[in-house]
Amino acid sequence: MVRAWFVDEDPKDPRAEHHRIPPKFVSLEELYRTTGVEYFQVDPKNFQLDNTFRKLIEERGNQGIQDIDDLDPNDLKVLYVEHFHTYDEFRICLEGCGYYDIRDKFDEWIRVEILPGDLLVIPGGCYHRFTVDKNGNYRGVRILKDGVYQAHIRPSDQLRCRKEYVKKLYNGAYENRYSREEEEGVKIFDAAEQNAKA
Ligand SMILES: [Fe+2]
Repeated sequence: MVRAWFVDEDPKDPRAEHHRIPPKFVSLEELYRTTGVEYFQVDPKNFQLDNTFRKLIEERGNQGIQDIDDLDPNDLKVLYVEHFHTYDEFRICLEGCGYYDIRDKFDEWIRVEILPGDLLVIPGGCYHRFTVDKNGNYRGVRILKDGVYQAHIRPSDQLRCRKEYVKKLYNGAYENRYSREEEEGVKIFDAAEQNAKA
């Protein structure tokens, strides 16, 4: 089950959890409202046959599956540089644990922990970066919009997709999320409960 929290500013070891003191967890609804990032759950053993995955592919037309595994220190360095892509892209964790740090509308980092079966849709124009946890045995895939992977490193605010994304964020395009998880009985991460414990 995916968890999300605000990141501290400690620049040491990106692969630590980087909670603030005290930790401040973020619900998936808040994550969506302030970033547009969507969350789905799929079968990590056979995601291509998973109904949720197939429906998403059908609706959004993403294609071109690329494996993300055997990440060496140089790969991790590159993926941890803040950037965005031009189109909405899917990320699925198949093994291990990965962290997507997403810039919210207030320019804060929200860390989203993805475990096997977690699928994130990161909107085009949304700044983010990626790393893995300390175990480092991550394996996942990304599914691109048009089969071509291209990252735009910050600052790239002049690009049209970035401007459109920012406009959507501030025009309330991500205010009302259809709660797919509740409909389908998927267990949702309870940020309020986690914050009460912290
Ligand atoms: Fe990326």
